[in-house]
Amino acid sequence: MKDATQTTEENVATATAPLVSQFELNLDAWANLLYAGRYDEDDDVDTESLVWRSLETLSRVSGADGCSIALADWSQELLVFQNGRKVTRQTHSHDTILMQGSLGAQVLKSDGPRVVGDMTHDPQYRFPDWIRQHGFSAAGCFPLGARGRILGVLTLYFRRPRTWTDPEKELLRGMAQSISAAIDNSLLLSESRNNSLSTVQALVRSLEARDSVTSHHSLRVTQYATLLGEQMKLSSRQMRALQYGAMLHDIGKIGISTEILNKKGPLTEAEYEVVRQHPIIGARIVESVDFLREAVPVIRHHHEQYDGKGYPDGLKGEQIPLIARVVCVPDFFDALTSDRPYRAALDPEIAIAEIREGAGTAFDPA
Ligand SMILES: [Fe+2]
Ligand SMILES: [Fe+2]
Repeated sequence: MKDATQTTEENVATATAPLVSQFELNLDAWANLLYAGRYDEDDDVDTESLVWRSLETLSRVSGADGCSIALADWSQELLVFQNGRKVTRQTHSHDTILMQGSLGAQVLKSDGPRVVGDMTHDPQYRFPDWIRQHGFSAAGCFPLGARGRILGVLTLYFRRPRTWTDPEKELLRGMAQSISAAIDNSLLLSESRNNSLSTVQALVRSLEARDSVTSHHSLRVTQYATLLGEQMKLSSRQMRALQYGAMLHDIGKIGISTEILNKKGPLTEAEYEVVRQHPIIGARIVESVDFLREAVPVIRHHHEQYDGKGYPDGLKGEQIPLIARVVCVPDFFDALTSDRPYRAALDPEIAIAEIREGAGTAFDPA
């Protein structure tokens, strides 16, 4: 009796064209994939969109019927598959690498690529149901990893059985390395952004600890401003300026005495003049921190008014940086809807009516 491995090899007799020639015909797409890991600062840098982009390019370049990436830290596997000329995205549960005895699990364990010529006759691995539902029969699975860290696996699927050649495997291993480097960069970037955000939050907490009046004010302003920014479809760069700016807009109050900040009752003209310095002090504190550069105009100008009657520079209309115009709306809203030593919190509807009234004078009418 023949063993199952022999059967597999016989069934693979009519393999599709070698991947290598298809790669050569698609040099543009290949270059595209290599560039997938590079971004403009304005680009969206989140890892998920990078993975989708890489999969779509890879499926175009390789002629595979499906390509998927499962990252060890994610709970889902992203799949791009061809249906006629249509390319579709789909997410699946993580079983390709979690399932015991699966192709992906073996690749993760051995850190080396594994290929299967015909899954329907393969006794060696277990495959999740969705792979059969798509009609895939050949698969090649490659490890993704960078700097000694295992990131996950990349798998290419073909509906027809195929014979995998060594040059193809080498080529795909190289592709997997390019994709790994891109994913690693993007993960590092978001980790460092998260660290930066924690630093900023710590800074803000130190301010709010001594200013009982505005406790949690910056956090709420950041939340409202984020919603506004999303509605306005700001770019990711503008969103960063918005969030850091909102979080830090009152950081200059750190330079103002607690007697003035926590004073019950109205401020004297001289005390008010001191409070009016906080945007200038704040901008000065933050301008030396490189990753917060974009927040500086927001901090300096969050008390400007559209009609030029604000402070510290009396800027008018569009002279006021856009993000500062956005942040001043939730800043004002939160101030009105919070208790102050000299008055109780206003109803949110009254606060909104006041903001509407201020359109064109205090606020940008747009
Ligand atoms: Fe302020
Ligand atoms: Fe504020």
